[in-house]
Amino acid sequence: MRGIVGRKMTMVAALMATTGMAAAEDVEVLHWWTSGGEAAALNVLKDDLGTKSIGWVDMPVAGGGGEAAMTALRARVTAGNPPTAVQMLGFDILDWAGEGALGDLTDVAAAEGWDAVVPVALQGFSKYDGKWIAAPVNVHSTNWVWINKAALDATGLGEPTTWEELVAILDAMQAAGITPLAHGGQAWQDATVFDAVVLGLGTDFYKAAFIDLDPEALGGAQMAEAFDRLIKLSSYVDENFSGRDWNLASSMVINGEAGMQMMGDWAKGEFVNAGKVPGADFVCIRFPGTQGAVTFNSDQFAMFGVSGEGAVAAQGAMASAIMNPVFQSAFNVVKGSAPARTDVPNDAFDDCGKKAMADLAAANDSGTLFGSMAHGHAAPASVKNATYDVITAAFNGEYADGTAAAAALADAVAAAQ
Ligand code: GAL
Repeated sequence: MRGIVGRKMTMVAALMATTGMAAAEDVEVLHWWTSGGEAAALNVLKDDLGTKSIGWVDMPVAGGGGEAAMTALRARVTAGNPPTAVQMLGFDILDWAGEGALGDLTDVAAAEGWDAVVPVALQGFSKYDGKWIAAPVNVHSTNWVWINKAALDATGLGEPTTWEELVAILDAMQAAGITPLAHGGQAWQDATVFDAVVLGLGTDFYKAAFIDLDPEALGGAQMAEAFDRLIKLSSYVDENFSGRDWNLASSMVINGEAGMQMMGDWAKGEFVNAGKVPGADFVCIRFPGTQGAVTFNSDQFAMFGVSGEGAVAAQGAMASAIMNPVFQSAFNVVKGSAPARTDVPNDAFDDCGKKAMADLAAANDSGTLFGSMAHGHAAPASVKNATYDVITAAFNGEYADGTAAAAALADAVAAAQ
C-alpha cells in the first residue's frame, strides 16, 4: 500500500511540476465500496474531488457492512498512520471521537450552515461534544425488499403488504421453481434482514428492543415471533447461500434466478448499474409491515487527526465537497440512497429514490425513524456484534425455536453491555 501511495504522490508531483499547478494535497480514503454499484458511486466522489484538485489515494477494504474495513482501520491507527478520511457508520464514529482520534470540521460546518440542513438523527453521529467530526454523504435504509418484476407477475399476486402476503409470494415462487429469496449467509446480511423483521412487528417493539435494549423486549414473546419469522425466511434461500456476497445475491434477482432480496437500498445501486429500471424490471417495497417506518444508516466520512496544514485543508475541502447539494444529488442517485441534507431536490431520482426521500421525511416527522442495529446506528459495536452471533445462529437453525433464540439474544446483549 505504501508503495502505491508513494508512486501516486510522485506522479501528482510530476504533473504539478509540468503544469505549474498549485500544490494539491492527496486524501487517502479508506472505504468498503467495492461492488459494481458502489464503485460507480465512489467514482462520482472521486471525480468531484478531482475537479477541485484534491488527489485520491484509494484504500478499499472489501466486505459489505464494513467489518473488515474497521479492522483494517484499527491496524492503521495502532501503527500511528491513519488514513486521511474514512467511511464510517454510526456508533463507530462516536467511538473514535471518544478516543480523540478525529479532526474537527466545525469551521467548515459553521461556514456552510450544516446544522440547518442535516437531519437531527444524522447529526447525532456527525457531532461529538458539540463539534462536527464527520461529513454525512447519504442516508440508506435497511427495511426494503427488491423483487424481480417478472417473477412477481408470474405469481399472479400483487405487491405484498403483510407478512402473510409475503409468505404467499415466497411459496408461489418456490412452487414456480425459482429461488424465492436471494441471500448471502454473512452475519451482517442476516442481521440486515432481521432489522426489517423486528420492525415489522411494530415500531414500539423495534425501539424497545434495539434502541432501548430493554431485556424484556429482547427476550420476550414478540422477539420469539421475530426469530420464528427469520427461521421461516431461511427456508427460502438456495443451498449455496452460505458466505455469498450481498451483490451476488442482488445479481440473482437482477437475472431472474431468484425472486427477491431483503437488503438496504445500496442494492438498488446494483440494479441501476445493471441498467434495470424500477417499475419495469424490478419493484422496491418496504418490508411488509414496516410501511411508514424507516431503519436508517448513514455513511459518513470521518477525518482522522493528521498533521500539516495542507492535509488538514484537504480534509476540509473534501468535507465541503461531500456536503455540496449538487454533489449529494449526483452521488445518491447512483448509490441508491437518499441525500444527507433535507434541501436537495428529488428531480434526478428514480421512483425508488423519490420514495426513499419521502419515507425518510415522513418517518422523521412521525417519530418512526430509527437507527439500524445491523449497520451500527442502534447500539455500539459490542452490542451489535452480540446480536449478529445470535441472529446468524438462528438463521442457521441452531436454536430449537424462536423462544430459545430470544432468550439467547437477551443474554448476549446483557453480557455485551
Ligand atoms: C453498508 C453501507 C452501504 C453499503 C453496504 C454494503 O453498511 O452503509 O453504503 O456499502 O454496507 O457494503
